[in-house]
Amino acid sequence: MSFKGIFLGLGIALLGLSAPVMARDGAALAKAQGIAYPAVIAHRGASFDAPESTAPAYELARDLGADYLELDLQRTRDGVLVVVHDNDLHRTSDVAERFPERKDSPVSAFTLAELKSLDAGSWFNQAYPERARAAFAGLKVLTLEEVMDIAEANPALRPGLYIETKVPNLFPGIEQDLQRALQARGWLDVPGRVVLQSFDRDSLALLHTAMPQVPKVLLLWLGKGHIEPMPGPTFAESGERDKAAFLARQQPRDRAEFERWLDHAKAAGAVGVGPSAALAAGGEQSYADLVQPWMNRMAHDKGLLVHAYTVDEAVDFQRVSDAGVDGIFTNRTGALLRFYGRGVPQDEAILLKSGGY
Ligand code: G3P
Ligand code: CA
Repeated sequence: MSFKGIFLGLGIALLGLSAPVMARDGAALAKAQGIAYPAVIAHRGASFDAPESTAPAYELARDLGADYLELDLQRTRDGVLVVVHDNDLHRTSDVAERFPERKDSPVSAFTLAELKSLDAGSWFNQAYPERARAAFAGLKVLTLEEVMDIAEANPALRPGLYIETKVPNLFPGIEQDLQRALQARGWLDVPGRVVLQSFDRDSLALLHTAMPQVPKVLLLWLGKGHIEPMPGPTFAESGERDKAAFLARQQPRDRAEFERWLDHAKAAGAVGVGPSAALAAGGEQSYADLVQPWMNRMAHDKGLLVHAYTVDEAVDFQRVSDAGVDGIFTNRTGALLRFYGRGVPQDEAILLKSGGY
């Protein structure tokens, strides 16, 4: 210890004060990385209001004021980086009509021209008639370049990109492809403008090798190949009907197991973790609750940020915020901005209309 340190320690002891604690709070951690705090992460764009991962979803998220446009990265058969969440195109396009013989094929089985021939919007109008818009019919699958165009298009609102490598084992070299694409357009020049994420530790480590200076987040999941749960029946074995309620009761095997995954995140070069959350109303987006206060404290103590997925309702925004998360992946960008007291320039319907939808 230096002389200065000895005198400081003596002074603290004489005054009866406890030793100063290193700042490990989320705000400081985010600031050090150039990451917004608390972060509003538009999950597949403003995907409550418009078809996920399409132009209106990303344009609306941008115009509402999201900090980040979240996207799932895959690669076409002819090597183009595209933005699609599912492994196949069944749920979010008319692939079954356009390419019936390949309707269940992975995204990587299609060329960009084939993907661009799909209608990636009409499914939304059918699934959510109360939010349907005629202009959503015929929307296109987007490339990474096109999402960058959208993020850059409004000079007053320049969201970052929060990019997930999806099924990266299907796309060897995608981490380097991504580095080249981002570098070529100057997206790596501003700290925190891009955040990289993956459930796959190996892919995260490859991203770290390719882009050591870019913040990375390991997505956390309770289950096979990820955080090991306490012993017990699986959902199928349990005979229960409410999967969300089942998942909400699941816990990591013990604290050491949760800590092990935080250490995995650090070892892969991550500055944060992206845990799942249980939601008050249950539903398909409700998973094991990995945002419990002790978990977030442990993450912060290790110098890791916490961004929870995927939360859309005020009651859940409040709970996960009280539990200590530093940002939220949401389908409802506007609702989260309002919750954080940041407001929105105009309502979603007006912004969509003025964008031509
Ligand atoms: O990337 C965070 C969250 O999006 C992870 O879940 O399945 O929606 O990509 P998923
Ligand atoms: Ca994602």
